[in-house]
Amino acid sequence: MSAARVALVTGSSSGIGEAIARTLAADGFTVVVNSATSVEAGERIAAELPGGSYVRGDVADPADAVRLVETALERHGRLDVLVNNAGTSTPVPHTDLDGVSAEDWHRILGVNVVGPWQLSVAAVKAMEPGGLIVNISSVGGTRALGSSIPYAVSKAALNHLTRLLAKAVGPDIRVNAVAPGPVETPMSAGSLTDRAARTASMTPLGRIGRPSDVAAVVLALVNTPFITGEVVHVDGGINLVTHMDAPREVGR
Ligand SMILES: NC(=O)c1ccc[n+]([C@@H]2O[C@H](COP(=O)([O-])OP(=O)(O)OC[C@H]3O[C@@H](n4cnc5c(N)ncnc54)[C@H](OP(=O)(O)O)[C@@H]3O)[C@@H](O)[C@H]2O)c1
Repeated sequence: MSAARVALVTGSSSGIGEAIARTLAADGFTVVVNSATSVEAGERIAAELPGGSYVRGDVADPADAVRLVETALERHGRLDVLVNNAGTSTPVPHTDLDGVSAEDWHRILGVNVVGPWQLSVAAVKAMEPGGLIVNISSVGGTRALGSSIPYAVSKAALNHLTRLLAKAVGPDIRVNAVAPGPVETPMSAGSLTDRAARTASMTPLGRIGRPSDVAAVVLALVNTPFITGEVVHVDGGINLVTHMDAPREVGR
């Protein structure tokens, strides 16, 4: 078995997942980078991480999900941390009820909920006691906001999956979620509306999140062995914003 701890980070060819992969690698992890379509970007990032490797796979596909975990084990001999970061959405205003199709529901729940479930089931079998699963959720999972209703519902489901799994797989494996507010990434570029930016500007910390803000909390969860079943919000205090608040200067 390799001495270095091994982390599998789904959806790590860009944005938050890339920052998590780089942060864990900097902490000494051997990181398995994954994406469904952006193979070149994933391979490039993996090549930049000491001992890193890349596996293409769609987390929503049952066979791919199992293969991702098996490949991590075959290549690196162990699996210590699984970060279910891969996520998808299609921005649809919540008032546009006809703008959401059944296909949208199936695709978003498939990637954001069924995917983490499948990866987690495979990972629990692969991990030694002390293993950790971190699900990347969203403030849309706890507040009535998010880029679409299916997206927000999928993150609420992911939060509950986190709690239920934590009970089911303790004490050997811990399961936590990290719930970012708006973060500047390729995904948010399509949905980070002026209104979201204005809302972020009303938060106590007065800015939108960065991928590194989320990665720092994932690393903190790695290093805090008595936390399980928690949904940790990384949102600059967006939960505290009310309709009484005035915008502050963005970008502080
Ligand atoms: N950005 C925000 O404001 C924000 C806020 C709250 C929560 N989040 C959550 O944070 C996570 C990362 O978001 P991001 O903003 O960093 O997005 P991003 O920059 O678009 O990155 C998404 C990553 O997931 C991969 N991916 C997408 N579908 C996949 C699938 N089916 N299987 C495997 N990989 C897949 C993408 O690669 P390919 O497309 O090539 O597969 C990419 O590597 C998501 O779960 C998202 O819901 C983001």
